[in-house]
Amino acid sequence: TDRYAVIGHPIAHSKSPRIHAAFAAETGQDLSYEALLAPLDDFAGTWRRFVAAGGRGANVTVPFKEEAWRLCDVRSPRAEQAGAVNTLSVDADGRVRGDNTDGVGLVRDIADNAGWPLVGRRVLLLGAGGAARGVVGPLLAAGAGEVLIANRTADKAVALAALFGSAGAAPLPVSGLALAALAESAAAMPCDVIINATSASLQGERLGLADGWFHGATAVYDMMYGAETPFLAWAREAGLQQRRDGLGMLVEQAAEAFFIWRQVRPRTDAVMAALRANLP
Ligand code: ATR
Repeated sequence: TDRYAVIGHPIAHSKSPRIHAAFAAETGQDLSYEALLAPLDDFAGTWRRFVAAGGRGANVTVPFKEEAWRLCDVRSPRAEQAGAVNTLSVDADGRVRGDNTDGVGLVRDIADNAGWPLVGRRVLLLGAGGAARGVVGPLLAAGAGEVLIANRTADKAVALAALFGSAGAAPLPVSGLALAALAESAAAMPCDVIINATSASLQGERLGLADGWFHGATAVYDMMYGAETPFLAWAREAGLQQRRDGLGMLVEQAAEAFFIWRQVRPRTDAVMAALRANLP
């Protein structure tokens, strides 16, 4: 039995063990998956001890994704770009490989599960922290026509946009602005998809947008999940019908990690429905 784990702090409420157990059962893979609490000052030691005890791979969650990025011997291009690693593997030569499946998980949930088109669309991304950084590249790769990054600290949005804008030969359609600008209709650009990657919901903080930044068919996504987030409540009150929380992203990022480890792609629909049935 191959061992896998999710490492974080806190970790007790992680849904990953349940998700991966369901994937293993559905695909007939012989593996175990546990939750490991790492001390805040010893993520690397926790990972090394797990590997020494036979661990083959791990998911990494808050607050260790940047530290996981640093300890890798080899990183995938998307992990490199995200500056964070959520999936670790040990290869045949004992090297530690890092990947980041969060962005592709978001894109699969939006494009495949929700069926919201991204190709050529204007996407507004709220936030410029770790969660936002991981999804800009995958959104562009999925064909988004334009990505506007809005952040409370505007400088961080501009810096994140510049990271992508200067990546290729032709500048990519990514720009940064202040979150506060979204309260004004004056210079508004109507967006087709709005994604909340801030942690404002955690503080019960409300992020409302002025008319002009959305239209009747704008789709709204919050990376948080559980009870209706303040952001999705705002979208409902604004009359927007297409709203979705981050539960599907959680399951899709897990499916991509499972694929990296086992080269088998699990189905995600039944797991998503089962988790949804257990939410408040
Ligand atoms: P994460 O890994 O979840 O992205 P983070 O890197 O700490 O965590 O980033 C948190 C994001 O939420 C940031 O974009 C932050 O804005 P600042 O960069 O200005 O701090 C945003 N955020 C947190 N609380 C917020 C609030 N009350 N209103 C608006 N944005 C908030």
